[in-house]
Amino acid sequence: MKISMKVNGREASGEVEGRTLLVTFLRETLGLTGTHVGCDTSQCGACSVHVDGQLAKACTMFAAEADGAEVKTIEGMAGADGALNPLQQAFQDHHGLQCGFCTPGMIMAADSLLAENPKPTEGEVRDYLEGNICRCTGYHNIVKAILAASGQDVPPVSVE
Ligand code: FES
Ligand code: FES
Repeated sequence: MKISMKVNGREASGEVEGRTLLVTFLRETLGLTGTHVGCDTSQCGACSVHVDGQLAKACTMFAAEADGAEVKTIEGMAGADGALNPLQQAFQDHHGLQCGFCTPGMIMAADSLLAENPKPTEGEVRDYLEGNICRCTGYHNIVKAILAASGQDVPPVSVE
């Protein structure tokens, strides 16, 4: 079937099967490989994107379910000139990434959190990230990066 959606502000369309996952459509049809697949069982959050402004795991939705939707992926987070957005910059500044595999999903989740709760506490950040698994960083610097991006003071970088 033919589907179309707006992805990162641009019209995108393609042929999919009914069983095609949204993450497969994004990666393989549209070439947006920043959205990762870490588990395929809805646990790791590496595939997190926004669908009509809501955080969604793209491995848990069929592409056809996003027909007509507005989708935002990590590729849509930087400015048109390539400048990192404040969350991306904060992850860099606070050593919130190591291998980077979980980072796109973490950024998309964090962006949703800050839209709902612009000044979260550390506990609120940790609760919100429950659906995003990082195998490298122990979360400490990811949490600090998100607090920093929300404009809150955080201690200097510590590497775990
Ligand atoms: S790949 Fe979607 S939650 Fe892990
Ligand atoms: S930075 Fe490697 S999985 Fe999170």
